[in-house]
Amino acid sequence: MNVILLGPPGAGKGTQAVRIAEKYNVPHISTGDIFRKNIKEQTPIGVVAKSYIDKGQLVPDEVVIEIVRLRLAEEDCKNGYLLDGFPRTVPQAEALDSFTKVETVLNLDIDLDLLMKRLTGRRVCEACGESYHVSFIGDANTCTKCGGTLIQRSDDNEASVNNRLTAYTNQTAPLIAYYKEKGVLCNIAAAGKIDEVFGEIEKALG
Ligand code: AP5
Repeated sequence: MNVILLGPPGAGKGTQAVRIAEKYNVPHISTGDIFRKNIKEQTPIGVVAKSYIDKGQLVPDEVVIEIVRLRLAEEDCKNGYLLDGFPRTVPQAEALDSFTKVETVLNLDIDLDLLMKRLTGRRVCEACGESYHVSFIGDANTCTKCGGTLIQRSDDNEASVNNRLTAYTNQTAPLIAYYKEKGVLCNIAAAGKIDEVFGEIEKALG
């Protein structure tokens, strides 16, 4: 299955992607995670990406398209993949169509007003990437999955989140119409509890 998770920042793409990848046994490809790994390792891609990500702006299309093209050519994607955070612009979607056939686009549909709180309260495990929210964990700073340290992402501050939401509205939201037109869009109500949202996704994927 060739699946895309579409949705604004904080809609729960990463949270649901982990569950989908486990249940359907497909590789989870998150362009945000790829950039964060490059930033941590201070690679040339990481240096370029950091200057955009910290401000809440999108990394240029030509950089991200090449990364995804190479990743989808790897052996583990032969029987399908789950893309999280790509495409994010119409030129990215057009490029993707030139090298693979997208079968299902899960559009996590949520009121943008809910997202500032979700993102500024998010904590992630530095070691395994598991995501938490301060409203559930208080000031705990250890990952219950692997024991790693919980940190706040450098782009989860109010100014960056505002820019990310604007970038979503202007550059990514047009993809909803793009994929609807192609007949592959499934809208998923994403404001409910994590398990409820996953239940909707299971129904959509069959
Ligand atoms: P990326 O890492 O993709 O970030 P994002 O799209 O902003 O999405 P997030 O990871 O912030 O949110 P999410 O939807 O995964 O939500 P999550 O599950 O964590 O990209 C980062 C940056 O990299 C971009 O800004 C851009 O600069 C660059 N980039 C990446 N891809 C690019 C591309 N294709 N082109 C150009 N640039 C690119 O959940 C959020 C919080 O809510 C968590 O605390 C979670 O625990 C909680 N939560 C989740 N679901 C629920 C629920 N149902 N109820 C209550 N809380 C919930």
